Amino acid sequence: MQKEEIANKWNQIYDQYDGKQVSLWHETPTSFFIEKIPFFKQHKVKTVLDSPCGDGRNLIGFVKAGFDCTGFDVSDSALNKCKNYLKEYKLEFEQGLLEELNLDKKFDAVLCDDAITHVKNPQKVLDNFYNILNKKGFIVIKFHSIKDSHYGNGEKLNDNQFLCKGIITSFYSKEQIKIFLRKFKILEFVPASYVEEGHGSNYIRNKKHSHHVYFVLALKE
Ligand SMILES: C[S@@+](CC[C@H](N)C(=O)[O-])C[C@H]1O[C@@H](n2cnc3c(N)ncnc32)[C@H](O)[C@@H]1O
Repeated sequence: MQKEEIANKWNQIYDQYDGKQVSLWHETPTSFFIEKIPFFKQHKVKTVLDSPCGDGRNLIGFVKAGFDCTGFDVSDSALNKCKNYLKEYKLEFEQGLLEELNLDKKFDAVLCDDAITHVKNPQKVLDNFYNILNKKGFIVIKFHSIKDSHYGNGEKLNDNQFLCKGIITSFYSKEQIKIFLRKFKILEFVPASYVEEGHGSNYIRNKKHSHHVYFVLALKE
């Protein structure tokens, strides 16, 4: 899929959202991410890239905590929603594909929530994250696991990868994640299950549903 096709698909999801939540993705930030704020402070993290930022539900906590933040996403609609949500704050935004991520600046931390499941080539994206991090920088990332309740929905593209109503959904085993992250030092690897509300009637997960995921904190040594 080309950039325009991916952007259009996600723009549609944001533009047609008919749910009641402020954020399409969850009313509150993801705890594993937001709980890293004291750890980041302790390790002198200054610059944070939320990639992709969506409509900003995680980014807001990092902006409020005083980090120099950048939000990155392929969808103009997501970025517009995020800019509006965070309009009182000073931060930067960039639009593009995770697979082509390459900005003028490097970062002390990269956040990637609910997105590595939507890319065709996760290794390329993780390599881009590695390259955009400063030495001693951190990545905080969520992987949907092969035990996730949505595993197998849609047309099979590859091992553990499916196309569901035009959206790629990829699922990962522990072993596969460790291979993808082999350039990093893994500091935390936490399995989790949770239930969340649907994301509007036009999205693939439009009803209350459960997930099984792995949260990872890793370091670029
Ligand atoms: C489920 S949302 C998660 C957003 C945010 N990380 C969060 O957790 O709230 C997935 C986001 O990834 C973006 N996205 C999907 N594929 C992308 C790609 N290949 N490159 C950049 N952004 C992408 C979408 O526009 C959407 O905003």
